[in-house]
Amino acid sequence: MPQPAVVDIHTHMYPPSYIKLLSSRSTVPYIYHPTPAETPDSDPRLIILASDDDPSRPKSSRGRPVDSTYSSFDQKRAFMRRHGISCSVISLANPWLDFLDPDSALKTAQEINNDLDAACAENNGSASHEGLKLFAFGCLPLSAPARDIVSEIQRLKSLGHVKGVIMGTTGLGNGLDDPALDDVYSALSSTATLVFLHPHYGLPDSAFGGPEVVAKSGHVLPLALGFPLETTIAVSRMYLSGVFDRHPQLQFLLAHSGGTLPFLAGRIESCVAHEREFIANGGHRQGPQRSIWDVLHTNIYLDAVIYGQPGLKAAIEAAGSVDRVMFGTDHPFFPPLGDDKEAKWLSVESNKGAIDGCFPEDEDAKRKILGGNAIRVLGLDL
Ligand code: URA
Ligand code: ZN
Repeated sequence: MPQPAVVDIHTHMYPPSYIKLLSSRSTVPYIYHPTPAETPDSDPRLIILASDDDPSRPKSSRGRPVDSTYSSFDQKRAFMRRHGISCSVISLANPWLDFLDPDSALKTAQEINNDLDAACAENNGSASHEGLKLFAFGCLPLSAPARDIVSEIQRLKSLGHVKGVIMGTTGLGNGLDDPALDDVYSALSSTATLVFLHPHYGLPDSAFGGPEVVAKSGHVLPLALGFPLETTIAVSRMYLSGVFDRHPQLQFLLAHSGGTLPFLAGRIESCVAHEREFIANGGHRQGPQRSIWDVLHTNIYLDAVIYGQPGLKAAIEAAGSVDRVMFGTDHPFFPPLGDDKEAKWLSVESNKGAIDGCFPEDEDAKRKILGGNAIRVLGLDL
């Protein structure tokens, strides 16, 4: 019997053109190439989080190593083979193009999106890749004027392997509840473009007790807590400001199972119901018109990148159905730390393990989360 498709919808790349761009910079985000005198044979360093750029450390040990897994399509395919993944929907990793000046943003987005589409076409047309399929989420020139963003959203529809867009939480610079995004949301809705929303900025170090406290555990606090809370805050702001009321067709796929949104949705709903500022409760401000559960069940998909059963159960419950949750790996982040080059990645094993653990007897639910939902929602031609 043929194996059901396993589709990884949360898997990143920095294509060679993007590595070149980051390597040409010396302020965050940038890639630092250590000299042989500093650390012989060491990989370049990826310094993308503000907390990475700690001036008390030499640049050669700031951030994290960035090896060829970040930019090599061969390595992506090797990772897929090792973990039984039949299709990957690759996306540019954070911080995307957020940092570009407005003049160069559109051209850079077009180049990267064309590169991604061409790489997927080349892969899918080649008999030598054993049927492994690649598709992509495009990126948007968010620092450019809104008309450029809209034109790229429309152009992406002509790239056959691009199945949506990835973006961060800052929007045009003022968050995703910014009314200036209305034209962008209208374009996303009218083109039925799915947005993969992914965090990058986390929370300020002060939320964790200051930079000294953060430094004691490296990336743990920013990645384990800062990232999911960033997503939670961004989507809550969208909801509270009525984005989903004005744009009821918007479709968002939230990274990391929606941060803490599944766990907090009931509390958000309750606080809205008790908020005297809102017209519905006798105040003078327009509150959200729809229940957060309705938004979760109609506008939002969640990935299954949550590394454990309690989180996955909450995600499925909040999404309203097993049909709205999709497997992902976050490759090439979180690689095995040992020397065994053939080791399975903990990130994949724990996310797959959570799916198996939640549905020990339900092959249909597993099949949907592992690939069936992505095929249906993204319209993947496998
Ligand atoms: N760290 C990042 O910077 N991005 C990811 O997607 C995962 C981990
Ligand atoms: Zn990611």
